[in-house]
Amino acid sequence: MSNKYTEIVTWSERLACGIKLIDDQHKGLVELVNDMFNHATGNSIQEHDYFNIVIQEVVKYVKVHFATEEKIMIATKFSGYAEHKKAHDSFVLAVVDNINDYKAGNRLTLSTFTKFLKEWILSHIAMMDKQYFEYFRKIATRKEDGKLSITSADIR
Ligand SMILES: [Fe+2]
Ligand SMILES: [Fe+2]
Repeated sequence: MSNKYTEIVTWSERLACGIKLIDDQHKGLVELVNDMFNHATGNSIQEHDYFNIVIQEVVKYVKVHFATEEKIMIATKFSGYAEHKKAHDSFVLAVVDNINDYKAGNRLTLSTFTKFLKEWILSHIAMMDKQYFEYFRKIATRKEDGKLSITSADIR
């Protein structure tokens, strides 16, 4: 097989929170970015078809992920909630802007959109999400599978 799969983002423990729910969602975002990167072939017809499909997935995924973080922050009275929510909201607006640009006139290519997502996700996890890692870990409980997790029982 000559299919070459390149990772522009490699998941590393530096990005890990230690809570499975959060880490799985972050890994999913990294996978999406890598998938997009590998579909940036420069063939605008192919890219356009792919974009229309993947963008729905990105929006859905990001919404679920942000809602997960925000729900836990609210339930646990995390002090950085307001600032964090602002960062999430402005990212959603930027994504919508990018989608509109892309659909309107291809000013943006799949490759530049992918890079934008990559930069944002990496810096958001490293700078904003990291601020709650320790806090969330404290309220998480160690389950019998040996992994830290947060369930509805922990955030009641
Ligand atoms: Fe976040
Ligand atoms: Fe996050």
